[in-house]
Amino acid sequence: MSELEDKIAQARQEIEKASNIVVLTGAGISAESGVPTFRGQEGLWQNFRPEELATPDAFWNDPKLVWEWYDWRRNAVKDAKPNPGHYALAELESSVPHLTLVTQNIDGLHQMAGSTNITEMHGNIWQIRCTKCGEIEQNFQVPLPELPPKCKKCGELGRPNVVWFGEMIGMDLIDKILRAIEECQVMLIIGTSGIVEPAASMGLVAKQTNKTVIEINLDETPSAGLYDIVIREKSGEVLPVLFTSNPNRVLS
Ligand code: APR
Repeated sequence: MSELEDKIAQARQEIEKASNIVVLTGAGISAESGVPTFRGQEGLWQNFRPEELATPDAFWNDPKLVWEWYDWRRNAVKDAKPNPGHYALAELESSVPHLTLVTQNIDGLHQMAGSTNITEMHGNIWQIRCTKCGEIEQNFQVPLPELPPKCKKCGELGRPNVVWFGEMIGMDLIDKILRAIEECQVMLIIGTSGIVEPAASMGLVAKQTNKTVIEINLDETPSAGLYDIVIREKSGEVLPVLFTSNPNRVLS
C-alpha cells in the first residue's frame, strides 16, 4: 500500500471506531467549489488589506466601502455549489451517532450540502445584523439594492453578520465547541491554515485530551507535528474515500 493509502486506511479505522466526532473546517474545503481562500496563492488577503475591510474600525470609518467588498464577495459565492468534500461530511453526519461540524467558513455551503449540526464560528455572509437593535436578517439578494443596507426592524445601519479581526467570538460558542471536543474520540481538521485563533488551538485542545486528530490540508500547518494522521491532499478527493459507504472507492 502506498503511504497515502496506508494513512487513509488508518483514518478510516479511527473514524469507524468513533461514536462522537468533531470536524473543524476552513476555506480550503470550499476551494474546489470556486470560493477563494484567504492565504492561498489567489487568496483574498493577497489582493485586499484585511485592516481596511475586515475590522470594526474599517467598517465605522467607511461602511459603504466595507459593504461594497462584502457585496462583491456575496456575488463571488452566490453560484458556488457544495463539492464532494461537503457532501461526504453530510453523509458522515448521518452515519455516526454524534457529529459536531465547526466551520470558520461564512459561505453556507455545509448547510447546502445537507449538514445540520453546524457551528459557524465566524458568522454567515448571507446574514445582515443591525448595529443598534441586533436584529439578524437572512438576505440572499445579490447585488444588495442599498449599500450600506439598513435594519428592516429599526432602520439603523446594518453590518455583515461575520466576525472581524479584533472581535471576540462569544464565550457560549467557544464553550460549546470545547465541550464537543472533550466528548469526541476523533477530531478532523480540514482545509485551514491553522493560524487564526481560536480555531488554530482547537487541535491542540483535542490532543491535550488524548483525542485522535486527523488533518487534511494541502499545505503544511504549524501544529501538524502534533496530530496523529496528516494527509496533504485535496479534501474534495480524500473525504469521499475516507468515509462514504463505498469502501472500494479509491483516490483518483
Ligand atoms: N483541500 C484541502 N486543503 C486545501 C484545499 C483543498 N482543496 N485548498 C486549499 N487548502 C488549504 C490551504 O493549503 C490552506 O492551508 O486550505 C488552507 C486555507 O487557509 P486560509 O486561506 O488561511 O483559510 P482559513 O484557515 O479558513 O482562514 C481562517 O482567517 O481570514 C480569516 O476569518 C477568515 O475564517 C477565516 C480565517
